[in-house]
Amino acid sequence: MSNFETIVYEKKDSLAYITLNRPHALNAYNLRMRDELYEVLGALRDDPEVRVGIFRGAGERAFCAGADLAEFLTAPTPIVARQVRWERDVWGLFLSITKPLIAALHGYVLGSGVEIALCCDIRLASEDAQFGLPEPGLGIIPAAGGSQTLPRVVGGSKALEILLSGRWIGAEEAYHLKLVNRLVPRDELLPEAERLARKIAQFDPMAVSYAKQAIVRGLDLSLGEGLGLEGRLGCLVALRKE
Ligand code: COA
Repeated sequence: MSNFETIVYEKKDSLAYITLNRPHALNAYNLRMRDELYEVLGALRDDPEVRVGIFRGAGERAFCAGADLAEFLTAPTPIVARQVRWERDVWGLFLSITKPLIAALHGYVLGSGVEIALCCDIRLASEDAQFGLPEPGLGIIPAAGGSQTLPRVVGGSKALEILLSGRWIGAEEAYHLKLVNRLVPRDELLPEAERLARKIAQFDPMAVSYAKQAIVRGLDLSLGEGLGLEGRLGCLVALRKE
């Protein structure tokens, strides 16, 4: 799993580290990274040794500065792009993973950088992190689920304001908006993510996975349906213990 050009995938004990690795381009998300991320996500999902995934960006300056603008005009036609997406739905796969995913965010977190972070369950950010969704200013809209995941996290009104204005948000504001769970000093970002991941990894993996599913899937249900889902998942966990 190490022969990637744009991503470093490492396993340490029960943790998987996924590092976006194009620091010369502020870890901009290109087609190669899309294909490699798809492979990495499959490995993370299917490897029973992996309990928690940590996403981070290589280099000092960015988690990810969004879609690779150098590829912007050379991207495939919408028809080809749609076909690729159908065959290889990276974002659907990302959001379907039932293991806990932690994003460790620093520096520029723009466009698809924000969207990758929003596919994770817990977002930690260092105080230098800056967030933004510049898509409408480039004549496009978010393509990695951001128009759906952002309002679910910060609420519709704030999501609209952030997306439509294109303004950037500092770490402090991102914390107040609940876009990130916790702010930490830069040198504590990875250690804090690892502490949290190790703590979660100690727990029963089925209980952790079902707790995640109860919350994530429940957000799209009515309260009554959500309570039903919780009941069914709870029974499955309890039955397994009998
Ligand atoms: N795609 C491709 N390359 C990118 C990139 C992107 N989204 N963002 C940064 N880079 C590259 C730059 O071209 C530059 O490469 P070079 O050293 O070969 O010239 C390198 O990363 C460093 O970026 P630079 O612009 O010199 O740094 P900066 O500190 O002056 O500005 C940003 C940083 C993030 C403000 C600026 O790079 C930027 O606006 N990037 C585009 C963000 C964006 O619109 N993303 C698309 C979202 S849909």
